[in-house]
Order: sequence, then structure tokens, then C-alpha cells
Amino acid sequence: MCGIVGYVGPRQSQSILLSGLARLEYRGYDSAGIAVIDGDGALDMRKRAGKLGVLREDLKGAPMPDGTTGIGHTRWATHGGPTDLNAHPHLADDDKLAVIHNGIIENFAALKADLLSEGYEFRSETDTEVAAVLLGREYREAGGDLGAAFRATVRQLEGAFTLLAVHQDHPGLVVGARRNSPLVIGLGDGENFLGSDVAAFVEHTRNALAIGQDEIVAITPEGVEVTDFDGNPVQPEPFEVTWDAAAAEKGGWPSFMAKEVSEEPEAVANTLRGRIQDGAVVIPELEGLDDLFAGLSRIVIIACGTAAYAGQVGKYALEQWARVPVDVELAHEFRYREPVIGPDTLIVSISQSGETMDTLMAVKYARERGAKTLSICNTQGATIPRESDAVVYTHAGPEVAVASTKAFVAQITAQYLLALHIGRIRGTVSAVEAAEHVRELEAIPGKIQRVLETEQAHIEQLAHWMADTRSVLFLGRNVGYPIALEGALKLKEISYIHAEGFAAGELKHGPIALVEPGQPVFVLVPSPRHSALLHAKVVSNIQEIQARGARVIVVAEEGDAAVLPFADEVLHIPLAGALFEPLLAVVPLHIFAMGLANARGLDVDQPRNLAKSVTVE
Ligand code: F6R
Repeated sequence: MCGIVGYVGPRQSQSILLSGLARLEYRGYDSAGIAVIDGDGALDMRKRAGKLGVLREDLKGAPMPDGTTGIGHTRWATHGGPTDLNAHPHLADDDKLAVIHNGIIENFAALKADLLSEGYEFRSETDTEVAAVLLGREYREAGGDLGAAFRATVRQLEGAFTLLAVHQDHPGLVVGARRNSPLVIGLGDGENFLGSDVAAFVEHTRNALAIGQDEIVAITPEGVEVTDFDGNPVQPEPFEVTWDAAAAEKGGWPSFMAKEVSEEPEAVANTLRGRIQDGAVVIPELEGLDDLFAGLSRIVIIACGTAAYAGQVGKYALEQWARVPVDVELAHEFRYREPVIGPDTLIVSISQSGETMDTLMAVKYARERGAKTLSICNTQGATIPRESDAVVYTHAGPEVAVASTKAFVAQITAQYLLALHIGRIRGTVSAVEAAEHVRELEAIPGKIQRVLETEQAHIEQLAHWMADTRSVLFLGRNVGYPIALEGALKLKEISYIHAEGFAAGELKHGPIALVEPGQPVFVLVPSPRHSALLHAKVVSNIQEIQARGARVIVVAEEGDAAVLPFADEVLHIPLAGALFEPLLAVVPLHIFAMGLANARGLDVDQPRNLAKSVTVE
């Protein structure tokens, strides 16, 4: 949450900062601001409540002097509402110093009380301004040594923070620090960048450095210096960004979400790419790490939101193919109840951003208790993979829309690869069976493409008709259950309609009371080819709700004639193996949520109250 960008170099920085912020806006869009050291050596700052567009208009109407050193921020409000005053940057040291921040400074109240007692004044309600004023005080005490002052400041802060600062007496220098919040360095030619993630600078450079936990960075046009909080030099880890700026553009699509749903086939294909050799799964990142899976007695998947639903799907494959018991836990619930974990537990965290604070804290907690940790992540250089023993990257490409779509199918794909990898090591799946599953996986991109081509127009029309619907229910059984939960989450998230997902078998234990005439209910029907019993059970669930007047929209495989008499609408998916159906069945639900939000005239990419990367607990 909150996007941060910093620049030093020969170029005027305002447009670089603003375009960096545009790429980071998915991280928060309550307010935006920039601070620049101008050509006359003065610090200029502008910040406005609202989306980045408001700031841009403001700067157009009343231009601000430009300069070659600057920082920019896009906010998701935590302390203090989304107002002009609470927007970042925050100024201190007689407005010569500007600070931006992502995270929560937990001891801000005590620090603020001290600073107030010393006569310092505050203009906002934010924890960030406390860090700014503190840095101003330390700067004076350090006799104008910005590096020393910055180190002294961050050592006093508790909680999660990425901080960037510029001081008008130090043109050509941006200092930054991180603890539990993201910050990466972009290496340019005679210029350097800082960003919450690589999207901030990918249009200028794909050469990046990852900054570790509790580290400080100083960038100048000539170079980059990284130290720990005590000033000891640290060697940052280099990496190359594997996607280019165009991948994070809308590219003619009406929204990032539309583009990302259309990229679901590619997200699966790219996650498989380079990991299949002669029909066998070979995950290069896991080479030499068989110890991670030796003596395994349990897997715990930890994640939040959509990633947790992907985990619930993955559980079926991990248990079936690797024959290890799997629990799926919401990361924020996991560490507050003394879970039973140890060296025989493998924690598999799933996170698109790799920065979700709840997930990160759960991973750290598990590691401290001796568990092994593996991260499934979509973002290079992110914190969670760096804090884990191993990582399997999903290669879904940058996901910009707040609602996760293509990352979801990539996360399931990565877990299936992992399940086959572990299954082969443990001897629980034969080479022949594994090759069969691999063939199924390889066919998935084409099948998702078919759903997009054959069903999209129909689903969008359905969504249009349902624009005034007040509530939608989703039912699924087995692997269809997490897909029902995902369908409901996506709908409430972007169309603000009440939606609930249920295990279809649970219906008669309570939720059926919600069904009244006209209630729309999506039902995910498993193929009768895999289990006639499961199929029959779902069909009878459909009959139960239809008898009570529900409007039934069925997602079923092509050729399933048994559901037709009971369905008001049928959305077809191609035939696939039982465990592979979720990768197809979720696609109509993603299209539907997007279609309904569009029909209601809502911003599908930036839904209210949300931010893509949830970096606060
Ligand atoms: C829903 C959504 C969220 C995220 C969740 C975890 O569409 O996007 O529920 O899935 O916040 O985020 P990551 O995967 O970045 O850890």
C-alpha cells in the first residue's frame, strides 16, 4: 500500500516521478504528491487529495519549478484521512526536508509526544510527519549529515516502513530505508531510481537491485550505496526485470482488468514455460533443494484473499499427487494461535505482490519456529521470496488492476507444478501419471482462450441485464468450492454488490434461507465424466434452489445435458480433468464480475477503499 518513487540524474524529475506514480497507483490512490529540489536549490512540494489525475491537473494549472532530484508518493490512507494535509510528502527542517513513507510507524504516538514536548509542531494527523520531524531534529543534531541523521532516525522507528527523503542542502541525493515494506533500486546510466516496485522505473531501466530488510540506501547520479541501519556496507542483490514497460500498459484495452483477464491463457503458459522437459516437471529454482521436501509431514499454505482461494484449489492437487496433508490458512489468522509447526512442516506462501504484510509476517513467524518456507510469488525482488528458503515464481507478468485475475490461474498452475515435483520426489506419482497431468496443464491455455472467445459476449450481456442485482450467490463443491468463493470476492470487490460463495453441500445447513424468487445463483457443476456422484449431488442442489425460485446460472462442461432443464443460463467450459476444471471455471466468473462493474459504471481497476498491495497488517 502506497507507492513510492525517487529519482536523481541529469533529467528534470517531475515527469519521471509522475509517470512512476501512474504505474504505482494501483498501490493506493487516496492522494498523491511530489517534492523536487529545483534548479535554484530550493525544495518545492505539491500534494493533493484524490487520484493522481488531481495532482496532475493542479500542476498543469499552476506549474511548479522542476529539478533533477525528486521523490513522489501515491497514498492509501492509514493514519489520518485522505486530505491534502495528510498527503505525502511531509516537510520538516523549515520546509527544507521532504519525506514520504509506506507502512505504519507503530511508536509514532510516543515519538510525537516527545517532539511536541520539545516544541516541534505538526500539520497533519499522519505517522509519517513524525518521521519527517524526527529526521529534521536528527539532521540538526548531526550537523547537517543527512546519512547519519537518517540512520539515527530509522533506528528509533518501530513497525513497517519504507522511507525516502530529500533535503534541499543535498541536491543530487535521495536517501531511503526499508523495514518490512518494499523498496527496490533501478540502475540507470548517469541516473538512478528508487521505487516500491520495479514498475516505478521499468520504462527507464530493467537493471535493478533488491534492498534487504533493515537497510538504508543513498542514490546519487553516479552511484548507489547500501548499508545496514548502523552504516555497515551491504552488497545488494542484482536482478534483471523480465518484463518491459509495455507489459504494464493498457495497450488499447478499456481497463487493466480487461487486459489481464485476456492474459489468463498466457499467464498459465508462461508459468509452465521452461519447467517441463520431455513430459516431466523440472523446476530450475528448486534444483538442489530436495531437502526442503524430505521428511515432510505437513504442508501449510498461507495467503490472503484470492491467493488463499488459489491455495484452497492447490490443496487438492498437493494432497492427491504428493500425498502430504495440506492445510490452507489465512495468513492474518495463522500466527495468532500458536500453530503446531516445526522442521517437518513446509510453509507454502502464495502472494502475487510478494509484499502482503499479513503473509510476510506469517512466513517470518513460521521460519522462526523452524518450518521450511517456499514462496509462490509473481513479483521479482519482492520481500516474501527473499524471506523464504525457496521461491517458485509465477510468470503472469505485471498485474495492475487491484482485483487479481491472471495471477490466480498462474498461482494454481505453480502449485500443480509443485505438487508434481514433490510427488515425484516422494514417489507418490509415477512418471506416466505426471506426464498425463502435464499434458492436461499444457492444454489449459488453449482452453481458457476458448472460454474467452466463446463465452465473453454472452457473459457481458448477462452482466448488463443484472446491473441492478442486489445480491448474487455462488455455489461449488470440491475444487469448485474455492472457485465459488473467488467468484463472490471478485464481484463484491469491484461491483460493490453483496455476494457470497458457499460449498453447495452446505446449502441446506443454512444458506438456502437466502434464496427467494429471483435470487441469482451461480453454480459450478463438476463434470459427470469424473464423478457421476458429485455431479448428481450438485444437480440436486440446483433443483433445490430452483424449486425456491432462484435464477440459476450454471458453469458446466460442454455437452453436460443433465443440467440444462434446471438452468436459466448455461456458461460452457471445455472438457478437462477434474483438478483442471477450476482453471477454466473461474474465467466466466472473472468476466462476469468485470462486466457487472462496467455495467454499473464503476472503475474496475481502482475499486473504492482498496489497494493492490496490502503492506499493512
Ligand atoms: C482480490 C485480491 C486480493 C489479493 C490479496 C493477496 O482480487 O486481489 O484478495 O489476492 O490481497 O494479495 P497478494 O497476492 O499480493 O498477497
